[in-house]
Amino acid sequence: MTSRIYLDHAATSAPKPAQVAQRLSRYFLEEGFTAGRGSYARAAEMEREVSVARAALAVLLGAESPVQILFTHSGTESLNLAIQGILGPGDHVVTTILEHNSVLRPLAALSNRGQIDVSYVEPNAAGVIDPQEISRAMRSETKLVCVVHISNVLGTIQPVQEICELAREHGAYSLIDASQSVGHLPIDVKEMGCDLLAAPAHKGLLAPLGTGILYVKPGIENELQPLLFGGTGTKSESPMQPDELPSRYESGSLNVPGIIGLAAALEVVTPEFVVQESARQAKLTEQLIEGLSKIPGLKMYPFNASPTAQAGVVSLSIAQHDPRVIGTILDEHFQIEVRTGFHCAPKTHDWLKTAPLGGTVRISIGHTTTEQNIKTTIAALQEISVSMG
Ligand code: ALA
Repeated sequence: MTSRIYLDHAATSAPKPAQVAQRLSRYFLEEGFTAGRGSYARAAEMEREVSVARAALAVLLGAESPVQILFTHSGTESLNLAIQGILGPGDHVVTTILEHNSVLRPLAALSNRGQIDVSYVEPNAAGVIDPQEISRAMRSETKLVCVVHISNVLGTIQPVQEICELAREHGAYSLIDASQSVGHLPIDVKEMGCDLLAAPAHKGLLAPLGTGILYVKPGIENELQPLLFGGTGTKSESPMQPDELPSRYESGSLNVPGIIGLAAALEVVTPEFVVQESARQAKLTEQLIEGLSKIPGLKMYPFNASPTAQAGVVSLSIAQHDPRVIGTILDEHFQIEVRTGFHCAPKTHDWLKTAPLGGTVRISIGHTTTEQNIKTTIAALQEISVSMG
């Protein structure tokens, strides 16, 4: 067993629960079938397990019904489906500088084609978006408000409920990028009031890589165009894409191992587990921020966030050192694994002024992180900071 410390859970959760590994081992050794295509019993069993995952997600997220949960092949595909499916020529989008490239790039592509116009809202000094700034950026042609729930660089939790309410009052749709929050914070989509919520399954949901989810509020399907067209295993006699959820948006064979792995993971990631884990991870985040704040020469971003408004992700730099150097020392000398660089969120680094440095060192906490891991990491960074000055 490795004694390495993994603190890159914002990239993916690792290792996955034993239940996931055991289910996948059985799948690959004894099954390996697709879902929703064959009528033989063993294919039907795969389909049943896909439905189990969908139903468990609906419960976890408070969705109206399992069919409001769509499966894609990544969080990025879910965001692309939401963005490209809802926007049309002449539309305006309000988003933030905290977004990941999986939001920034589809918006930039549509904008570069001259199809849409985008406004980017900056957070306050604590890394939190003021809903009134979102409101001020709205125009009569604003069709979509797209906001990240937890910044993957800063870890700051955004006031998504208020933002969704403002979008609704304005007659715009709301899309929440829950990539870093699902499985880490309790989420109820009805309470949040979002129209669309996207996430990958491999982060806080503890499933294997290769599956994304998109929650679609009832009625939004009348407006949301599919991103992909193709075989769904339903109404195969028709050349037209079926209208029904979820097959309208699920063309091509589903990632069955990923989804049945997700079903196994969701036996662990229950609503109760998320409540307990969010409290445990909040304590670890607080412990980390408190410890790091005492290290001379170490700067955390944002500069004055309250630890309770930050969930599981902390970005930092030491003097003017390239974050990759710090990351390599942590890896090679201290066996601590973190991510360094821009974390696919370039506008956040422009705002932080960390772009010339090459981004930040990012520590991200997850289900396997212990108090001892945090203590060891604080001590390692203290040693690095002293020796590098
Ligand atoms: N988006 C993931 C991260 O922030 C991969 O690391």
